[in-house]
Amino acid sequence: MGSVLKFIVAGFTVVAFLGTAYADGDPEKGRKVFRKCRICHRISPDAKHGIGPILNNIFGAKAGSREGYRYSSQMKEAGENGLDWDEDTLSEFLINPKTFFPGHRHAVPPYKGNNMDHLIAYLKTL
Ligand code: HEC
Repeated sequence: MGSVLKFIVAGFTVVAFLGTAYADGDPEKGRKVFRKCRICHRISPDAKHGIGPILNNIFGAKAGSREGYRYSSQMKEAGENGLDWDEDTLSEFLINPKTFFPGHRHAVPPYKGNNMDHLIAYLKTL
C-alpha cells in the first residue's frame, strides 16, 4: 500500500517537472541548436521545401500536412490518424523518431543538457 502511494506521488512529480521544463527554454539558444536543422529545413514562410518540409507554425500543426511536400507514407498516415506536433510529441520525435514511425530515421544532432528545451522554445517562435 505504502509503496503504491509512493509510486503515485513519484509519477506526479515527474509530470509536474516535465510540465515546467520547456517553459525555461531560451529561444536564442534554440536558434543555435536549430542551425543543424537548417541543412534540411527552411523556415521563412515563402521558402521552398528543402530535403525536409518548411517548419513555420509547426506547433499545433498536424504531422505530415505541409502543402506541397512529399512525405513518407508513415508520416502522412500518422497525421491523418491524429498526430499533432506539441512539446511532447516534437521532443519525442526528435529524440526517438521510431516511437511514431517504425523504421524512420531523422538525422538530428545529439541533445545535450537542456538543448531540447531551447529548441522547442525557438520552434514556437517560427
Ligand atoms: C538530413 C535532413 C534533416 C535534418 C538535418 C533534420 N530534418 Fe527534420 N525532416 C527531414 C525530412 C526528410 C522530414 C520528412 C520525413 C517524412 O516524410 O517522413 C522531416 C520532418 C520533420 C518534422 C515533421 C514536419 C511535418 O510537417 O510534420 C519536424 C517537426 C522536423 N523534421 C524537425 C526537425 C528539427 C527540429 C531538426 C533539427 C534538430 C531537423 N528536423 C533536422 C529531414 C531532416
